[in-house]
Amino acid sequence: MKSLPLVIATLSLAASIGGCRSTDAVTETPMETTHRMRTGGSIDGRPVNLFTLRNANGMEVEVMDHGATVTRVIVPDRDGNPVDVVLGFDTAEEYPEKSQYFGCTVGRVGNRIAGGRFELDGKAYALAANNGPNHLHGGEVGFDKRRWDADPIMTAKGPGVRFTLTSADGEEGYPGRVEAETIYVLTDRNELEVEMSATTDAPTPVNIVHHTYWNLGGHDSGTILDEVLRIRADRYTPVDGTFIPTGDLAPVAGTAVDFRTAKRIGRDIDAYPGDQAEGGEDPGGYDHNFCLDGEAGTMREVVRLSDPRTGIVMTITTDQPGIQFYTGNFLNGMTGKGGAVYEKFGGLCLETQAYPDSINHAGEPGWPDVVLRPGDTYRHRMVHRFGID
Ligand code: BGC
Repeated sequence: MKSLPLVIATLSLAASIGGCRSTDAVTETPMETTHRMRTGGSIDGRPVNLFTLRNANGMEVEVMDHGATVTRVIVPDRDGNPVDVVLGFDTAEEYPEKSQYFGCTVGRVGNRIAGGRFELDGKAYALAANNGPNHLHGGEVGFDKRRWDADPIMTAKGPGVRFTLTSADGEEGYPGRVEAETIYVLTDRNELEVEMSATTDAPTPVNIVHHTYWNLGGHDSGTILDEVLRIRADRYTPVDGTFIPTGDLAPVAGTAVDFRTAKRIGRDIDAYPGDQAEGGEDPGGYDHNFCLDGEAGTMREVVRLSDPRTGIVMTITTDQPGIQFYTGNFLNGMTGKGGAVYEKFGGLCLETQAYPDSINHAGEPGWPDVVLRPGDTYRHRMVHRFGID
């Protein structure tokens, strides 16, 4: 991948929320203001704050406080033309109405918990079953549907926004009061860094997940089936009919989820035709968790995605043990930004994470520990780096 030219990042940011706060890692910086969606917008009668990060390579990242959500990522294509590579909506109101977790921060626990039930330190907990029989993405009002506090920041690497949220003890049935943080930074190396962290006052499961839908051909370019993907994973977690892992950590070799060598996403996707017979709700496509090679806790490059139409390449480096590769199977023709229509396979998610339903596999060999305890800090880093093939 050729790198885009290096530049000093510049920043244009919201100020109605009081400008930039200084911390150890952060320096004061003057900021311009924009604090509404481009086409206006409010949720629950309150204006939504929108922040734009820019660098002089022509990259632009827009985030909003509702759901700590990425709403726009502009990357120059091989001819230097700006391409918006994330799915989203023109107005804030459409996010709670139409969004299938577009661009947001998912929590307290991303992906599914079987039957919404788990045991922790000998006590049983019951959570909302908001996805068939299972609990999905933190419940009825997960982190994605909450208003986060926002602080524009300037780091040594570039401009960013720090979002913080308090999740009360008992919220969505989870024990413990959790203080969560998501920081987005756009670097001068054309990286979008996402850092998620959390602390708690009582033991609780935590698996915070970033949920952008990518289409490197442009959010309005049709499907992602011709994009080429490599995932560094020898194993994955096969699931049952309701997308709950069977418990196996199975080899990808000889299956359609073998992405160890880069391949066209559409090549083997028909191996997962889904099952919509007799009320079955699986629309088919990829919706799989991969057990990433290398050591969790160590930053390593795990994904490379490229688009033949624009030449845009994105790599992901993370410290997480797993990644959910989801091909937008439930996209249903909703109207998005600029009138774009998002059909099935119109975008894909690459969600670094602990494995789905890990809380019900505690202590099993190879399964991550997702219990956060008082005094400890949950940390999750992912770096998306953009370039041209
Ligand atoms: C999950 C899918 C789910 C989707 C909802 C993904 O993270 O893997 O199963 O349908 O989120 O938008």
